[in-house]
Amino acid sequence: MPEQLTMSLEGETVVITGGSGVLGTSMAEALFQAGAQVAIIGRKAEKAEAKAAEIDPQQKRCLGFGADVLNKNQLEAVRETIAENLGACTILINGAGGNHPKASTSKERFEDGDLEKKDVQSFFDLEENAVNELFQLNFTGTLLPTQVFGQDLIKNKGSIINISSMNADRPLTKIPAYSGAKAAVSNLTQWLAVHFAPVGVRANAISPGFFLTDQNRSLLLNEDGTYTERANKIINQTPEARFGEPEDLTGTLLWLCSKKASGFVNGVIIPVDGGFSAYSGV
Ligand SMILES: NC(=O)c1ccc[n+]([C@@H]2O[C@H](COP(=O)([O-])OP(=O)(O)OC[C@H]3O[C@@H](n4cnc5c(N)ncnc54)[C@H](O)[C@@H]3O)[C@@H](O)[C@H]2O)c1
Repeated sequence: MPEQLTMSLEGETVVITGGSGVLGTSMAEALFQAGAQVAIIGRKAEKAEAKAAEIDPQQKRCLGFGADVLNKNQLEAVRETIAENLGACTILINGAGGNHPKASTSKERFEDGDLEKKDVQSFFDLEENAVNELFQLNFTGTLLPTQVFGQDLIKNKGSIINISSMNADRPLTKIPAYSGAKAAVSNLTQWLAVHFAPVGVRANAISPGFFLTDQNRSLLLNEDGTYTERANKIINQTPEARFGEPEDLTGTLLWLCSKKASGFVNGVIIPVDGGFSAYSGV
């Protein structure tokens, strides 16, 4: 009889950046339920601590920490505190990321006359600072925590899981910078997989499709709660005909975390998108 496959993560210390966000909190909860020690890193310490206390009221196996993923000194400091309190990192989830409204166009396609319209934020209005910030958050904000926690991962033959997006393969309209930055995250995932394979560290990514969260709520819901035109378009393009729930990521996450389950899986970017990326629309 083959050994029963379990998803127990007992003995693992998982660090999750962006762990106080909508998807991150759900992931942190699932990791905690699987028996892991969980360190939630968010930009604001209070929010990360509060989320950790909701997940683990006894504050023994899930703790929250404040650090900017773009500040290596802050990351180094929390790395030490995490090692003291929860053990050295064995799995790093790079979940911090997001879009920037000033790096988005207001229309899907450019049309004659748009340059003269004050209410249109066209490609030419994208703000350089916003584009740079967005790239830094998503790409550099994945690279720096990997540098900081990577040395623990090497010692522990650990694993990196990046959070990309299904728009990395085919850009979504309106969000050129976010799509490009996530393409860079997917590309970095493959690079890391190749680079660290000789020392037993794996790197994979999850590409979530459309999940209704704070970042995209205003794009997808009207004030009265009905779907916007964009939301209806997405649902019509999604074979599963719904938005994702944060828990939809759990199975893929636990599988990628478990060396026993996915030890030969390296350098992949897995869409969890209800079939969106598979559907040509015809
Ligand atoms: N929501 C979706 O539909 C969707 C789809 C595809 C990919 N994603 C990606 O999933 C991840 C989580 O998204 P979400 O919807 O839960 O977002 P969210 O806005 O709810 O959470 C973002 C998290 O990132 C943290 N963060 C932001 N900037 C940071 C910084 N400089 N330093 C440290 N932490 C920082 C915030 O504290 C928060 O915990 C992001 O990488 C996002 O791009 C989301």
